Amino acid sequence: MAGVNAGLLDRLRTELADRRTTTGLRRDLVVSGPQGPMLDVAGEKLVNLASNDYLGLASDPEVIESAQRGLRDEGLGVTAGRVLCGSRAIHSELEESIAALVGVEDAVLYSSCFDANLGVFDALLGRDDVVISDELNHASLIDGMRLAPVRRHVFAHADFDDLERCLAKCAGARHRLIVTDGVFSMDGDIAALPKLAELAQYYDAALLVDDSHATGVLGETGAGTAEYFGLTGSVDVLTGTLGKALGGGAGGFVAGSHAVVETLRQVSRPYIFTNAMAPPLAAAAVTAIRIARSRPELRQRLAANTAWFREALGELGYDVLPGQHPIIPVMLRGGSWARDVAGALLAEGVLAFALWHPVVPAGEERIRVQISAAHTADQLEAAAAAFDRVRKFVDCA
Ligand SMILES: Cc1ncc(COP(=O)(O)O)c(C=O)c1O
Repeated sequence: MAGVNAGLLDRLRTELADRRTTTGLRRDLVVSGPQGPMLDVAGEKLVNLASNDYLGLASDPEVIESAQRGLRDEGLGVTAGRVLCGSRAIHSELEESIAALVGVEDAVLYSSCFDANLGVFDALLGRDDVVISDELNHASLIDGMRLAPVRRHVFAHADFDDLERCLAKCAGARHRLIVTDGVFSMDGDIAALPKLAELAQYYDAALLVDDSHATGVLGETGAGTAEYFGLTGSVDVLTGTLGKALGGGAGGFVAGSHAVVETLRQVSRPYIFTNAMAPPLAAAAVTAIRIARSRPELRQRLAANTAWFREALGELGYDVLPGQHPIIPVMLRGGSWARDVAGALLAEGVLAFALWHPVVPAGEERIRVQISAAHTADQLEAAAAAFDRVRKFVDCA
């Protein structure tokens, strides 16, 4: 009988050993109990500044109860793809809810936004087309573009002269698609959609926005980046996640006109060749979207919490990248300061992760803080006091 391949195992062991001595091996933190503004890690209660639960809906009783109802009525999973016998009425209801939330004609579900981004480019574009992508776009967009038989250009982050150069360079393409995150996940900055939409129109290009950190969060009704700028309807293809503000279960989507969405249903591989979303997740997301739309006070509280914490960190002398989004990058550039400070915060009862190369460029090390509407004033004050206590690490910088 053939054994396992020694050559492969040897190579992997060597590479892991190298990684251990260079960047260190990542170890996933094990959390107990439900998601919320406080987390239980090994019996310690920590203020959670590390999740994407922007509206605090992950532990909302109505959302949880919907998941339980979905489980009771439709079962755990459907053991088939949507194109076989995996489609349920709750999937269509969720797709309608998403389309209504973001203000477009239609939407189609994927297992995750990562899958949506993997499946969207190959389905909509071909050899005669070009994608023009912001250099800080999410990994899933980058991988999705790599899977499609398109020409690819990358423009410097938010550099519209560079974008225009790319647009002009590929004037002969059948379609030019500008690709951007709505909110960039490492810097928390909001894409300048008015400028992007203007350039798209001028150059007869299409615009794709991954609004994973914006749906539910930005805009009067939580429709996302386009609504934030008063430009609802200006995006050709919108991708997003149900794993962040919209209940935090799991799932992703592509939203847009019927022609876009119907094409995806017909030919998008991560839609066709995979199991359909578990009904409890779909039921929870329908309720989360209803709450997100109908309770603007959650966004108001999120904005107030974010503004308070940004100001508190600034007053403590931290270098915080400016912005309004609940992603707050606290810059601790160079060496291992970001990691040291994150470690010290953990000892002080606060969970916030350090980001370093290759996740962010070398020299741009930081701690990424993420605020939720569910944080109480006491929790944020406790977290700010912890940042104050660990200043000694920062001062060595
Ligand atoms: C901008 C962006 N797009 C896509 C994703 C992937 O979303 P999901 O967790 O639904 O796969 C993420 C999550 O990290 C993200 O930040």
